Amino acid sequence: MKQRSRLRIILWVGLVTIIGAAAGASMGGWTGPEPQSREITVVAHQYAYDPPRLHVNVGDTITLKLHSLDVIHGFYLEGHDLDAEIRPQEKTFTVTHPSSGKETEEVESYTFKVNRRGKFRYRCSHTCGTMHPFMTGELIVGPNTPLHAGVGGMIGLFIGFMLALRKTGDGAGVADGGDATT
Ligand code: CUA
Repeated sequence: MKQRSRLRIILWVGLVTIIGAAAGASMGGWTGPEPQSREITVVAHQYAYDPPRLHVNVGDTITLKLHSLDVIHGFYLEGHDLDAEIRPQEKTFTVTHPSSGKETEEVESYTFKVNRRGKFRYRCSHTCGTMHPFMTGELIVGPNTPLHAGVGGMIGLFIGFMLALRKTGDGAGVADGGDATT
């Protein structure tokens, strides 16, 4: 019937779209865009960090700047061998690497690479007042594969579209197509 052939066309257009997107993505490289260099400034104050959450991707190089608005705060970053002391109203801060002893370094910024996915907490490591133990934030390192997400989203949209069509009544034609997409 007419309605069924129209559905067939819609199915084919959808499939071709997905295959085209997948082909384009594989030619462009499934690993996504090149790792980025990011300059991130974290401002510490009683009793929080601004921003409280940082989102980066594996492979990114981060240049971190730390400032304090009020008293001396610390910045200990889980999993990255980094501890810092941030003094108020100063451009520089002090960096130490807990694994290699007490040697400190006075810097305006600290550059490091994120090599592992995951969630890494940062917390204040300098007693700064009553709520000091609760002064925390988190660095979230994502997989750096936005293209996977894009293709997945497109397939999801297509499936949603088919489900919506199924609801409008012509079940048989859609069921055929549903098999073809798996
Ligand atoms: Cu800020 Cu302890």
